Amino acid sequence: MKKQVLITQHIPEAGVSLLTGQFEVVYLNDRTPRPASVLAASCPDASAILCLLSDRIDGALMDRFPRLELISNYAAGVNNIDLKAAAARGILVCNTPDVLTEATADLALALLLAAARKIIPADRFCREGNFNGWASDLFCGFGFTGKQIGIIGMGKIGLAFARRAESLGMSVVYSNRTPNPLAPPNYRLTDLESLIKESDVVSLHTPLTPETRGMMNAARFASMKEGSIFLNTGRGELHDEEALVTALASGKLFAAGLDVFEKEPGIHPGLLASGKVVLTPHIGSATIETRNAMAQLAAQAVSDCLNGKIPQNRVIV
Ligand code: DGY
Repeated sequence: MKKQVLITQHIPEAGVSLLTGQFEVVYLNDRTPRPASVLAASCPDASAILCLLSDRIDGALMDRFPRLELISNYAAGVNNIDLKAAAARGILVCNTPDVLTEATADLALALLLAAARKIIPADRFCREGNFNGWASDLFCGFGFTGKQIGIIGMGKIGLAFARRAESLGMSVVYSNRTPNPLAPPNYRLTDLESLIKESDVVSLHTPLTPETRGMMNAARFASMKEGSIFLNTGRGELHDEEALVTALASGKLFAAGLDVFEKEPGIHPGLLASGKVVLTPHIGSATIETRNAMAQLAAQAVSDCLNGKIPQNRVIV
């Protein structure tokens, strides 16, 4: 009898087709997460679950799948999965790192450029027929040369984004639990509070854990430099959205660029109303190439695990 696999939401075909010949696949081909009760009922004999970052997989849900061997997350971040509960039950967890590094760093750069150079309001201005002639003060933005970017979380994505920011003429400082040996010597490791206080751009790239949740709080926004820019392409729960809205409204921040939100898919009305924020709907890894590669990687982990091989990209608690 074929083993059963549950795919909880729509993923690119490359991932689905890798699994359908080998296993009995229950594919909930939809673009919204199903409640836990629906997931549990749809494939109770699943040996593997391939899920998305919007699926919450906790111990209680794991217990509804007595044959579960693997949870393969279609994301690098695994904050949606209770890793300790999985480990306690002997269930492997895999993710999709590396393949999304460059795409996510590109999106961070796009947000930085758009926020700094007021691209969204300038575009709207043109479309609304307001461009009546060149003016010396029209949409004056934030220059990069000689300024400092502070990268919070110097993993692969933080490093890829730092390189892009350096190409804009910025110097790089970073905070991390340990120095990143791959970071060039001119990228200076510093403590979090100094980074926040001294950087012209502060960008979050750290994983969401109980320790990092809410790390960009009101006090830290208040200690940011006057006229600086805040970016988050990691996880929305890393920042306090109310505090960010206050920092923007007070004029303290020049701008912000956000790909992630504290209560996704909800977005704070103060952000929606602010002309100083560029908002994108968690699309950091959304290139066709990257999303296909993520699907293949997540599905390959399922195939390897259920065929008795050790899958790549196991997440160790
Ligand atoms: C991830 O993989 O964690 C990203 O947020 C998906 O884009």
